[in-house]
Amino acid sequence: SKGGWSSFMAKEIADQPQAVADTLMGRLASDGSVRLSEIDGLTAEDIKNIDRIIMVACGTASYACDVAKYAIEKFARIPVQVELSHEFRYRDPIITANTLIVAVSQSGETMDTLMATRFAKEQGAKVLAICNTQGATLARESDATIYTHAGPEVAVASTKALVAQITAGYLLALFLAAGRNATEQKVLRSLGQELLKMPARVTQVLERLDDVRALGKEMANAKSVLFLGRNVGFPVAMEGALKLKELAYIHAEGFAAGELKHGPIALIEEGQPVIVIVPSPRDSDSLHPKVISNIQEIRARGAKVIAVAEDGDTDVANFAEHVIYVPSCENIFSSILTVIPLQVFALELSSAKGLDVDQPRNLAKSVTVE
Ligand code: M6R
Repeated sequence: SKGGWSSFMAKEIADQPQAVADTLMGRLASDGSVRLSEIDGLTAEDIKNIDRIIMVACGTASYACDVAKYAIEKFARIPVQVELSHEFRYRDPIITANTLIVAVSQSGETMDTLMATRFAKEQGAKVLAICNTQGATLARESDATIYTHAGPEVAVASTKALVAQITAGYLLALFLAAGRNATEQKVLRSLGQELLKMPARVTQVLERLDDVRALGKEMANAKSVLFLGRNVGFPVAMEGALKLKELAYIHAEGFAAGELKHGPIALIEEGQPVIVIVPSPRDSDSLHPKVISNIQEIRARGAKVIAVAEDGDTDVANFAEHVIYVPSCENIFSSILTVIPLQVFALELSSAKGLDVDQPRNLAKSVTVE
């Protein structure tokens, strides 16, 4: 039931601290070490032999894969390719016995993803599923399954399943990194400990959403909204745009902020709303100043900039019209926090337009046809 919430989506957004905590439970010890007993079937030898990971998924689940790619490559040093299931299946992809396929699906019944994994299995690859539905077809057909414990998701728009998928992706990254000795164990444990703090931070994000709600209502007449991000903020930008399309029927696009000057900046005109996911100023890759200059470039051309930034980032306040602050955390884990205001923004905009947020037009919760 909706348990007093105005929609299933609103309830499922509120369930997110629990979804993250339950997905971590039993897998992350208090010292920060990761244990994934579900994939005990993969021997230490198997893990060492993986030479490539191909992640297959559709829609929102594919953005969870994009986030996982950043974490797996950074910590486990295994090349990761993210593929939309339907595109992957119908070309001639290169799959070997040392390719690990990771299929991500909330329902575990998405036909495109099932077809992609069946195909990969036929080519001799091992398939690991990340799935939210006990006993789903995907789980049954895979060699191993990491269940996301988000609980049943009813609203068509995926929210808590996504944060749970992202959480599982981070766990997998730390697990593979430890198994391959690709990052110092001490560093991995401290990252694990950081991950344990995420449910409380998700709660903090949920406690400060009034501004986002107001913005959503205010912008109900927007004709188009653009989203920009870098690193893990890029898939978050893509997800923000997808949510707005599917729930509010507004034209929206997500871009990697670095792409702006290669084309999309031509879209900017007076009053164009742009939501920018700003990386942490503490980030060692110094992406923060780069994104701040992007904000300056689009502001100079009339964009109305709404930034999602971490607490204490006072710099960004000098350049953006609105700043939505989220608690600070390791930049790589920030996607779990920055995506939430975008979910709420889409929900508010959709309700302000009087639309059915749980059941948008033309869409089904699980797409069981190709
Ligand atoms: O059940 P799945 O995770 O395989 O579903 C994949 C997509 O169909 C799904 O994420 C879709 O994009 C959602 N409606 C997004 O909110």
